Amino acid sequence: AGLPPGTRVLSNRWDLCVAARDRGLDASFSDFELPATADLELIACRVPKERAVVRHLINRAWHALAPGGRLLLWGGKQTGIKTHGKEAAAALGGAPEVRKLGTDYLAVATRTGATLHSLDDADYEALRPLLAYGGRVLFTKPGLFGWDQIDPGSALLAAQLLQVFADGPAPRTLLDLGCGYGYLSVAAHAHGAGAITATDTCAAALLACAKNFAAHGIAGEVVPSDCAEGVAERFDLVLCNPPFHRGFAADQELCARFFRAAAGHLHRAGRALFVTHRVVPAATLAQEVFRSCEQIAATPSFQVHLLKGPHRAALT
Ligand SMILES: C[S@@+](CC[C@H](N)C(=O)[O-])C[C@H]1O[C@@H](n2cnc3c(N)ncnc32)[C@H](O)[C@@H]1O
Repeated sequence: AGLPPGTRVLSNRWDLCVAARDRGLDASFSDFELPATADLELIACRVPKERAVVRHLINRAWHALAPGGRLLLWGGKQTGIKTHGKEAAAALGGAPEVRKLGTDYLAVATRTGATLHSLDDADYEALRPLLAYGGRVLFTKPGLFGWDQIDPGSALLAAQLLQVFADGPAPRTLLDLGCGYGYLSVAAHAHGAGAITATDTCAAALLACAKNFAAHGIAGEVVPSDCAEGVAERFDLVLCNPPFHRGFAADQELCARFFRAAAGHLHRAGRALFVTHRVVPAATLAQEVFRSCEQIAATPSFQVHLLKGPHRAALT
């Protein structure tokens, strides 16, 4: 609301992009595709979690900023903001400037150099193959959840699919809620799932997931959405490894929204399969919106729950 008129918003998060548009801002959704127009006076960004993403952003900022334009990065101490500030200054040509801003730190780098001293961003833009278990190739990129190794929680959920599919007809329709690069969709497809809808808020995740749908011949669609908002269809099965953190902080309410979204997107006889870290009170969250919640697998770190009987209230 406090942004000056003419401010353009670019977000790799669909929910933020929608919120900005709702406030009348000119917002675009992409995987940090800053314009190479060399005409911006200021780029302001909270530091992303993954170093390759931050470096990619700094490199792209150089092409987007006018000479003398500034890049503002901010974040808490644990984000590595001081290092990012130094790297940004080295890349853009100015002297590092980092100062305290409440509990955060603000790093300012000015584009003074005639050439970009490009930072190694691990070739961030490129999707790359990750050799998953079972010999299935999945495409992924830095910054995505479990991008360089299959997440053990997601693997635990995938290991239950054979039994869950055997206990009923293979689902004709499936929702992969918070799909990331689509690991759970690929596993479900391999077990005979029908049409799959995969949703996520993260632009990079959606790009990678769409690539994996094409590579694995998966019928379905990959759509940007905040907790499946705007997805009108009901499904036979929902698969979910919900986020438990937003940025660097734990966020139980975000996790709870995924349980509600699952219940709200199932047919009456539909089922949901959730994997969560053991610290997440999954049974409590599930019982608010499902009649039946059964723990079907657990390790010292993770638990998988099979949920049935979405409450009527969720089926609006
Ligand atoms: C724990 S990861 C699981 C990813 C993937 N399903 C897997 O098993 O590898 C959670 C995913 O939820 C996505 N996410 C976070 N907030 C979301 C929201 N509000 N709506 C949809 N997806 C969201 C994240 O981008 C991330 O890809």
